[in-house]
Amino acid sequence: MRSMQAWLPVGSGDPGADGIVSVGDLERPAAERLAGPIWDYVAGGAADERTLSAATGAWAEHGLLPHSMRDVSGLTTTITLLGRSLEHPVLLAPTATHIRYHPGAELETLRGAEAAGGLLTLSSLGSVVPRSFGATAAELGAPWWMQVYLQRDRSGSYAYLDDAVAAGTEALVLTVDTPSLGARDRDRRDSFGAAQGVVFPTLAHVGGEPDPVPAHRRVWNPHLANDVTERDIGDLAERYGLPVIVKGILRADDARRAVDAGAAAVIVSNHGARNLDTAPTTARVLASVVDEVAREVPVLVDGGIRRGTDVATALCLGASAVLVGRPLIWGLATYGAAGVQHVVEILRTELEMAMALTGATSVAELDRDLLLSGR
Ligand code: FNR
Ligand code: LAC
Repeated sequence: MRSMQAWLPVGSGDPGADGIVSVGDLERPAAERLAGPIWDYVAGGAADERTLSAATGAWAEHGLLPHSMRDVSGLTTTITLLGRSLEHPVLLAPTATHIRYHPGAELETLRGAEAAGGLLTLSSLGSVVPRSFGATAAELGAPWWMQVYLQRDRSGSYAYLDDAVAAGTEALVLTVDTPSLGARDRDRRDSFGAAQGVVFPTLAHVGGEPDPVPAHRRVWNPHLANDVTERDIGDLAERYGLPVIVKGILRADDARRAVDAGAAAVIVSNHGARNLDTAPTTARVLASVVDEVAREVPVLVDGGIRRGTDVATALCLGASAVLVGRPLIWGLATYGAAGVQHVVEILRTELEMAMALTGATSVAELDRDLLLSGR
């Protein structure tokens, strides 16, 4: 881990001046900077990484069929999501332990996100407590969401969720796709665990308890729950009176169960292909979830979004917004807040280009008629 004094951005410190023009341009410098087990953890997927390898290309497979001869002079990317107006639909996914990538941790990420109008979700396995994250967000005037990994003993989760709610989170993002981690071979070869070398402030109160599971058979922190069901959606909604966004849906029937249980939105996600290898890409299953529940609640999506055309395709399929995971880490690890800001600005600009070039002047005009798939 670099100390606060030692951390310097790569290159000139200005990603634009350094010729970073696409999100993918940041991957190599990030890989060099984080080389070793930390990079393996960030970049890796489950098992043979079949789902991971397919994730990015799957968006482009839909193909965009552009209109010409359209007046796009009034183009806008603004959206309204759960009552909050946002400049654009590119959000930042919850990812654990930003202290590994930058000494300013999630507070640095937040500064970059805010500068680009990209709503950030704080991971419950983040490196800063919700209280300080919320205080910085309030200073910046940045809206934010709190992600939730429930603990076996739900009262342990309520402790940090009470703080997050008091600190101003506008929604709770309940992750429901991780009763176990996947077979992360890269991490197992590195003997690296999600918790390696870091403290999870949200688990600090249980940290000292003995773990009954032998290390080689451990798939997850023993204090995190593997009994999360739709009952927890209603419980959280009732306890906090905030929208509960359910993250980790790949099937229409699960989306239905989540919405019937009180979900205010769902996120179609395979957890960045880190959990179940052979699970479908989100580009492939998004439409089925949209068709089931999008008339009732917003459907968001993440996984392999690296281009504005990927964002446009997701919106054409019926998503209300997208989230990006690994790219925010690439930006944070290389240029700090400026890198995070650059990632979001690139995606936003490319989305504007894709909209202009397909003849859409508003996000609402991105629909399935613009997709080549299904014709
Ligand atoms: C994640 N993801 C994740 N999800 C979550 O709900 N809580 C978490 O703490 C984390 N932590 C995490 C760490 C790292 C290093 C990665 C790469 C991912 C999953 C994340 O929110 C998101 O679903 C995926 O990252 C989206 O895919 P892309 O954009 O990385 O392809
Ligand atoms: C991961 C967990 C922390 O994907 O969500 O590594």
